Amino acid sequence: MYNAPRGTTDILPEEQAYWRYVEEKAAYICQLYGYERIESPIFEDTRLFTRGVGEGTDIVEKEMYTFEDRGSNSITLKPEGTASVCRAYLEHGFQNLPQPVKLYYFSPIFRYERPQAGRYREHHQFGCEAIGEADAFLDAEVIDMSWQFLKSLGLQNTLLFINSIGCPECRPKYLEVLRSYFSNHVNELCPDCRNRLERNVLRLLDCKQPGCQQIVNQAPKSIDYLCLPCADHFQALKNYLGILEIPFEVNQRLVRGLDYYSRTVFEIQPEEEKSQSTIVGGGRYDGLIEMLGGKATPAIGFATGIERIILNLKRQNIPVSAIPAPKVFIACLGDAARNEAMKLTAALRKQGIGVISATSAKSLKAQMRQANNLKISRVVIIGEDEVKAGTALLKDMTNSQQETVKLADLPGLLK
Ligand code: HAM
Repeated sequence: MYNAPRGTTDILPEEQAYWRYVEEKAAYICQLYGYERIESPIFEDTRLFTRGVGEGTDIVEKEMYTFEDRGSNSITLKPEGTASVCRAYLEHGFQNLPQPVKLYYFSPIFRYERPQAGRYREHHQFGCEAIGEADAFLDAEVIDMSWQFLKSLGLQNTLLFINSIGCPECRPKYLEVLRSYFSNHVNELCPDCRNRLERNVLRLLDCKQPGCQQIVNQAPKSIDYLCLPCADHFQALKNYLGILEIPFEVNQRLVRGLDYYSRTVFEIQPEEEKSQSTIVGGGRYDGLIEMLGGKATPAIGFATGIERIILNLKRQNIPVSAIPAPKVFIACLGDAARNEAMKLTAALRKQGIGVISATSAKSLKAQMRQANNLKISRVVIIGEDEVKAGTALLKDMTNSQQETVKLADLPGLLK
């Protein structure tokens, strides 16, 4: 038979309580911080990502699900959510709204990656984007929001890393210094890094190969090459995080895998696993809207992988409440009783009472077994005698007590 494609999973009923828990906490946080929900299509014009995310990135070079549709358009399944939100911001004239415009989304994301624990080819992101404001106050607020979101889920032992990768004014100088530094060590670099040296030197900083680590550790730091406005911005962010009492570490190796970032970048990681399983990733992307054809508009955001969050919730044994299941089961014997059962089912559901009704003509014993397996607390039993008398037996499955009640009284009684 068929299996789900490699790197994808079915989210089964038993998992749904976690998903609902995460989505509800996310929606609540968004409400607290004034973010409104947006949904964008699952696929976009490929150019949105080649331009937005950047030609030299792993995502664009190796990971996109790109295909030609029947109208010969190049289409790509969303490999991230930010570019789509920016496209929508421009398309719907959101630059005319009071700024910043604050939007959040839940979206499936597709990347052709090597699947492993916490890394999938289809994953789901909860993301937030605040567009139209450059002040570091907003950087702190966005970081705070992602931090408080994890706290509200009950997740502990997370580490926040921040860095500033400068702006188009100061970054070219830094990249030049960095390129020249790595060029002096070219023979010690892994083939991937050698490859990236000319095209995307910043990415060398986040190489995981042991051989490259020592060279990377000694590499020049972007924060030492910031222009004055970028340095002030970064300093302001650190001050605000201090006021918010959010512990952080400046990590000069943090550069992120998408080209649109400028100034602030940040990640939150679980303490045990460090960089292998970043839960939250985000940063400023002051040039993206302009790159997509709008006027220069600063922005910042973050996204978090819901599968990774759930992985960590399970690891930390954080309980989530079960999704309420129907509490009433209706068992019946004979055709007349089945008619009454159907009527009663409809009446109970109208009252907002979840009901499961025996659907096929099973023995009473089999029906009771079904109710037991479903962990139902109240069973209504209707037989031929009960139909004639206009009554039913109401059985409390927790103590096996039963009583005869009028059919007409049941909705009120069970409510
Ligand atoms: P990203 O760091 O590529 O950023 O992805 C965000 C989060 O999605 C990661 O921190 C991780 O939790 C999760 N994630 C990424 N790839 C996978 C995967 N293959 N399997 C499971 N989970 C994964 C972005 O996508 C940016 N758009 C974030 C952003 C929003 N920056 C500014 N605004």
